[in-house]
Amino acid sequence: MPRTLTCDPALFEKDLSGRVYIVTGANSGSGIATTEQLVRQGAHVVAACRRVAAGEEATRHLSSERGSVEVMELDLDSLASVRSFVDAFRAARSRLDGLVNNAGVMNTPEGRTQDGWETQFGVNHLGHFLLTELLLDTLKASAPSRIVCVSSVAHVGLRNQPATLDLDDPNFEAREYDGVAAYNQSKLAIVIYARHLAQRLEGTGVSVFSTHPGWIRSNLVKHTMPTWVQNVVMRPLSGVLGLLSFEEGAQTQLHCLLDDEAPSHSGEYYSQNSVLYPDKADRPGGWPMRSPNPLVYDDALAARLHEASVKMVGLEAGRA
Ligand SMILES: NC(=O)c1ccc[n+]([C@@H]2O[C@H](COP(=O)([O-])OP(=O)(O)OC[C@H]3O[C@@H](n4cnc5c(N)ncnc54)[C@H](OP(=O)(O)O)[C@@H]3O)[C@@H](O)[C@H]2O)c1
Repeated sequence: MPRTLTCDPALFEKDLSGRVYIVTGANSGSGIATTEQLVRQGAHVVAACRRVAAGEEATRHLSSERGSVEVMELDLDSLASVRSFVDAFRAARSRLDGLVNNAGVMNTPEGRTQDGWETQFGVNHLGHFLLTELLLDTLKASAPSRIVCVSSVAHVGLRNQPATLDLDDPNFEAREYDGVAAYNQSKLAIVIYARHLAQRLEGTGVSVFSTHPGWIRSNLVKHTMPTWVQNVVMRPLSGVLGLLSFEEGAQTQLHCLLDDEAPSHSGEYYSQNSVLYPDKADRPGGWPMRSPNPLVYDDALAARLHEASVKMVGLEAGRA
């Protein structure tokens, strides 16, 4: 198993006092570990959680750290909730140094978001798309600032199913629904969006990254296998499988947020190691690395995704 990529310890010595970050899905997994590290370094983190009580429970222990954390409600399953979150955030703060689009769902049973989009495409991509677009003015005004879009090795494919993006059928109405194919599609959309957004933001001082955080022992697999199987049965095989702790799963995002060189790689894909890359040469990961999925570099597809996403979330064309 390739070694786990970890941040230069000097990055964790940086003083982040006065800086403001938003982390979505901050009550669990890599989201809570990212939040903890930023707060430890003095930042103010808005933990954007769909379950506010769970967010407060998860972040309570951070009150003794140098920085601060506040929990705000954000349900990415609802575009109205995304808009309410942004309104509330902008009413309270004019600064945003970093946005971490971390929340996600995987391999869910067939379903629709409150706005009628396939659940994984809707929550993982469209909810974060609207959130990001509505926060761009604040990010630009706070430049240099950074956006980290958490994707997955699944953007290449999982279970021998290469990831594809079907903008004519994002909801799996013309093809049979498959939870893994829908996850792959949503995670591919994220990497394509991050690269396209970086091009749009060139010269603004806002940089954008997509990541694969690694295979983390988290709740994400709850629709794929009972979490206890991962914790009890697979944990002893952690070394072979490359299963990571929450802290290890936060390293790639933290590197993108804190590394001085990262902005010169805006738009690129940063990956923790993964045994799931089809080609062995990709398995060590890389900060950054070239995505093995050629669709990531299809500029026409990226433009179509942007146009389609603008329509799907109800942002008038030209506004973003
Ligand atoms: N775990 C892995 O091996 C792995 C591998 C590759 C990529 N990733 C990606 O890494 C990210 C973090 O995953 P994780 O492993 O830390 O999983 P996790 O522990 O399940 O965390 C996911 C977070 O997303 C939140 N979330 C789910 N639906 C939401 C919604 N509708 N609105 C707002 N928040 C929502 C969850 O909130 P609740 O607690 O309320 O459900 C939770 O806080 C995800 O984007 C995932 O796709 C993970």
